[in-house]
Amino acid sequence: MMILVVFISVLVLSAAFFLMHAWRSPMAMDAIPGNLGWPIVGETFSFLSEFSSPCGVYSFMKKRQQRYGKVFKSSVLGRLTVFMTGREAAKILLTGKDGIVSLNLFYAGKQVLGPTSLLQQTGEAHKRLRRLIAEPLSVDGLKKYFQFINNLAIETLDQWPGRTVLVHEEASTFTLKVIGNMIMSLEPTGEEQEKFRANFKVISSSFASLPIKIPGTTLYRGIKARDRMYDMLDTTIFKRRNRESFRQDFLESLIKKHCKDTSEGEDDKLTDTQLKDNILTLLVAGHDTTTAALTWVIKFLEENPAALERLREEHMEIQGSRKNGSSLTWSEINNMPYTTKVINETLRIATILPWFSRKAALDFEIDGCKIKKGWSINLDVVSIHHDPAVFPDPLKFDPSRFDEPLKPFSFLGFGSGPRMCPGINLAKLEILVFIHHLVCRYKWSPLEKDDSVQPTVVRMPRNKYPIIVKPL
Ligand code: HEM
Repeated sequence: MMILVVFISVLVLSAAFFLMHAWRSPMAMDAIPGNLGWPIVGETFSFLSEFSSPCGVYSFMKKRQQRYGKVFKSSVLGRLTVFMTGREAAKILLTGKDGIVSLNLFYAGKQVLGPTSLLQQTGEAHKRLRRLIAEPLSVDGLKKYFQFINNLAIETLDQWPGRTVLVHEEASTFTLKVIGNMIMSLEPTGEEQEKFRANFKVISSSFASLPIKIPGTTLYRGIKARDRMYDMLDTTIFKRRNRESFRQDFLESLIKKHCKDTSEGEDDKLTDTQLKDNILTLLVAGHDTTTAALTWVIKFLEENPAALERLREEHMEIQGSRKNGSSLTWSEINNMPYTTKVINETLRIATILPWFSRKAALDFEIDGCKIKKGWSINLDVVSIHHDPAVFPDPLKFDPSRFDEPLKPFSFLGFGSGPRMCPGINLAKLEILVFIHHLVCRYKWSPLEKDDSVQPTVVRMPRNKYPIIVKPL
């Protein structure tokens, strides 16, 4: 109920902003089937109430697809939007052929992340930034962080016995420490880590907030926290440039490229603003998603004992083949085929990013519908992930679906095309390491049965998944 009240306020306050911006007359959408609902709030209430249910927006989409077909219009979260689904639509929207679409961030997201963020770039500028961040996030680039991630997973799990563990909170702390260390060699404990964590939490919660930037609002607080985070980064960048400290981290690799006396071409240089905007972008895009994915994997494994047993066998075999009690190695991580399928099946069922939002950059036609430049388009990924023609009995958790290669654009857990997730290797690495130590040490059971989901952009269990663990 509270959420609905907040959303009424959000929508009423957004109205003025919304009317001033971007909206062309809904009349232009007459040819597209669908229902725009109530003035201003549109169909937001039914969207949100379905969103929090275990199936998420799946039933909202399904009802409308049955009534209107694969392409329909609606008005949700203050935006008149055309919803689309299906592999064909995914191919057109995600490959973005001929620059027909761009990413469609909410106003608050744009303000917080800054104009040079990867998420706000298109065309050549986007390609260039992707190239710069690709190397440190590649499998080879990640190797040097493996030991840190491994030790942190062990230390985190050491603290689990004998108490209620809120898996989502533990996963959040773990993934934030990993990315803080990877980006700027932040130590996992201490004052700097606390400052970093406090600022990040405020930034993260402001990302999809009301588009009002005055003192006291969530967006205003988010921008202030972002400024404090940038101050931290400025200090670190200054020390690195003056050789007061040297670390082999993500920041260092970007500074090297940015450095004036470097032999890198002009194309590889980043300004300080680009550097900071994009470090923040990686933090924001990578933290909640990996946290949610790790939490869902642990939840789904407990709910599917056969999958857990098979996964545990894989890890026990790895552990059993080691000599002298040595710990997990980099090469072992790269050979966990069943666990990789469990991760994919988790991302399919949970679909933690339920839709991908785009803005039409040109007029174009899709499935016989004419889309006008400037319209918002949401690609409904939940329905793609639950298409019974590709995934028979779609609600069943069955990692063996990934035994054979799937049809293109049928699994979009990490997206596809030029905007496909650049953090895929890091996310998988964190989850594989954590799951290895978890299943080799503990069995666990949930303290309550609640399948509802938080109504946030990234889908996660509402109750944070409380469990207790026991040694095997
Ligand atoms: C399990 C964890 C993760 C999942 C499920 C995930 C999922 C996705 C998806 C589906 C997209 C494409 C969205 C679209 O096309 O609209 C995406 C993009 C992105 N992800 Fe991830 N992600 C994860 C982890 C990470 C990590 C760890 C990082 C960074 C360290 C990261 C950084 C990004 C960035 C920067 C983009 C935007 C790329 C662009 O616009 O070119 N993600 N992610």
